[in-house]
Amino acid sequence: MPNYPTPHIKATPQDFAKTVLMPGDPLRAKFIAENFLENVTQVNSVRNMLGFTGIYKGKPVSVMGSGMGMPSIGIYSYELYNFFDVENIIRVGTAGGLSEKVKIRDVVIGMGACTNSNFVKQFHLPGDFAPTASWELLEPCASLAKEMKLSCKIGNVLSSDVFYGDDEALPPELRSNALWAKMGVLAVEMESAALYMNAARAGKKALGIFTVSDHLITGESTTAEERQNSFTDMMQLALETALAVE
Ligand code: HPA
Repeated sequence: MPNYPTPHIKATPQDFAKTVLMPGDPLRAKFIAENFLENVTQVNSVRNMLGFTGIYKGKPVSVMGSGMGMPSIGIYSYELYNFFDVENIIRVGTAGGLSEKVKIRDVVIGMGACTNSNFVKQFHLPGDFAPTASWELLEPCASLAKEMKLSCKIGNVLSSDVFYGDDEALPPELRSNALWAKMGVLAVEMESAALYMNAARAGKKALGIFTVSDHLITGESTTAEERQNSFTDMMQLALETALAVE
């Protein structure tokens, strides 16, 4: 008995390319397919988690929403890696800036993903696992970012389970964002650590690329137009990385 279709993805392994780009928002996936890919077919619509496969510069590439948070991307990435023969997942998302080195509109590449989630507990490890991006994706992505002259920072991000925290009663220096920033963490988002762990466990490859939509320490945020421009930069970077990898 094949493991597909699943309760979340009604498709076959042939429907997906070896590389899947994953924005959080399924309508973002549709936008990417319509604006960056050719010969697009829709491959999933279960729970409106839209997925598409098309061609980028002659090579098949898929794009599918991940939903928000580690449980959601945990489900979709597990199924894509283990049941749909996907080799590479590149998350493309937004993140909130934490480090002073990161400016809004920057592109951040998540070399590592710290987390406050318990997702790792399922692996019963006798120590602390360090969720990291795959070098095979990170290396071409970093070179391409340099070639494209993007304002780009590469380092740790935080994959948080909490968007609306309850830190206000604490003194500023003890608030979660400040503590992670003190450790050099560049930005916060909510998915990459689960993606990196699932990739590691499945022997597959993963990378997270983000645009900085707001800054949690300086309070700056981007306009809709700025968000669109940095989104386009990030997408070109992700798609060229997809071309560069097996
Ligand atoms: N927190 C978590 N994820 C995010 C944020 C944030 O502030 N901004 C963009 N993605």
